[in-house]
Amino acid sequence: MISTNDIKILYTAEEIDNRVQTLANEIMNNYSENEEIIMICLLKGGFIFTADLIRKLSRKIKIEFMSVSSYGDKLESSGIINIKQDVSCDINNKNIIIIDDIIDTGNTLFNIKQHLINKKPNKIETCCLLDKSEGRLQNITADYVGFKCPNKYVIGYGMDAASNYRNLPYIGYIE
Ligand code: IMP
Ligand code: MG
Repeated sequence: MISTNDIKILYTAEEIDNRVQTLANEIMNNYSENEEIIMICLLKGGFIFTADLIRKLSRKIKIEFMSVSSYGDKLESSGIINIKQDVSCDINNKNIIIIDDIIDTGNTLFNIKQHLINKKPNKIETCCLLDKSEGRLQNITADYVGFKCPNKYVIGYGMDAASNYRNLPYIGYIE
């Protein structure tokens, strides 16, 4: 069992809050008031980031959830994406922003994006709080990125290690 004393902080709650505000501003600048946006949160890791981000978007949006898993209880990606819950509405012709906590190998975002493109949206963008670009195996980058993240296994702010630590208000790593 890891104690919180072993956690090194990478991004404080305040740094995250500031960065999320900037991302929200970027998104708002890219869409006009009358363009409908459906934000698709990838569960479970994306839930806290999504909740904070959408409350900083001062405009009408819709929110959908997909439940996706790739890691199981391991700290490395299996490469196999399992869609446990799909979107519950028709996204044909809609503007979509996929929101996830972190992009590492890119397997998750690449496969989910492809899955959603097949549903023929008008526009599809991706937003990840963290980008662990050194781990990339797929040719994909997120359109909106909060922080470039060192190649460490990080926890907190929605991200887990074997289902623990999602509730930490900051992002850190275990030494
Ligand atoms: P990818 O498919 O390798 O890009 O990994 C993306 C998914 O794996 C994310 O949605 C996260 O849920 C999870 N993940 C990747 N790296 C980390 C990490 O360092 N900590 C916690 N979860 C991670
Ligand atoms: Mg995830």
